[in-house]
Amino acid sequence: MFGMCMYALIGTDSKSILAIFVNYVVLCLVIEMAMCYSASMSKLIKSKDRVADFGEVFTHEREVKAMCDLVKDETERIDSRVLEPACGDGNFLAEILNRKLSTVKFRYSKNHSDYEKYSIVAVSSIYGVELLEDNAQHCRDRLFGVWNEAYSRNMGKDTSDECREAARYIFHRNILCGDALSLLQKDGRPIIFSEWSLVAGIMFKRRDFELATMLEMQDLGTQGDLFLSSGSFDKEIGAYIPQPIIEYKPIEYWRVQCQIE
Ligand SMILES: C[S@@+](CC[C@H](N)C(=O)[O-])C[C@H]1O[C@@H](n2cnc3c(N)ncnc32)[C@H](O)[C@@H]1O
Repeated sequence: MFGMCMYALIGTDSKSILAIFVNYVVLCLVIEMAMCYSASMSKLIKSKDRVADFGEVFTHEREVKAMCDLVKDETERIDSRVLEPACGDGNFLAEILNRKLSTVKFRYSKNHSDYEKYSIVAVSSIYGVELLEDNAQHCRDRLFGVWNEAYSRNMGKDTSDECREAARYIFHRNILCGDALSLLQKDGRPIIFSEWSLVAGIMFKRRDFELATMLEMQDLGTQGDLFLSSGSFDKEIGAYIPQPIIEYKPIEYWRVQCQIE
């Protein structure tokens, strides 16, 4: 741009030199702003067809942060369960995972085994459904990257590949490729999520629930935890009793991937 200005200045009087210079500066600014806008839009859109067919327009980081701030306490609570039904490549889920991991670091950075355990609790609390397989896979990889980067930085030489496998497995179970309207996975099976609960210090208990049942129960008027509404109403105690479709024995949190499905 500077070169173009210099070229335009040759052979003109001083008044028009100033006018040309101002015009070029304004033109440069307009072109640069347009380039910035189109670069940021191109990050939010992959193709016109995908926008038309799937409504795929990603949310800018600024809006993601502002929206998460509306429910700040929940996004920072390590074990608050979050489900995004059209998660794309994970803009919201990555931000929430980052916030939860900051809380883990704040509370447990001095104790490596606690840091590891609660970072896996944070991982296990994040759920997503996404229609397109490439987005779903990108989302899993991205979330694993967020966790692994924080895990490696905080744990130094105390990291374990078995724990990394556990984190990968949980993301594989929690981020599903499916249709949030029909509540079916890509292969036609119902969407089934696993509830992971920390029991007896270092053990994780897994219980699987159908998303359709959980939403049905929620429609009947229950509130609160995603998994507590799945089941039938118990008149005697006046509450919904959760009924998983399958329950697993507790296992060390770093070995959840070893349980046979
Ligand atoms: C507007 S984008 C938002 C993505 C992400 N939540 C974000 O804010 O960056 C909508 C996403 O929903 C997905 N999608 C569209 N219909 C869906 C459906 N029925 N079930 C699940 N995901 C769906 C699209 O593939 C797309 O990735």
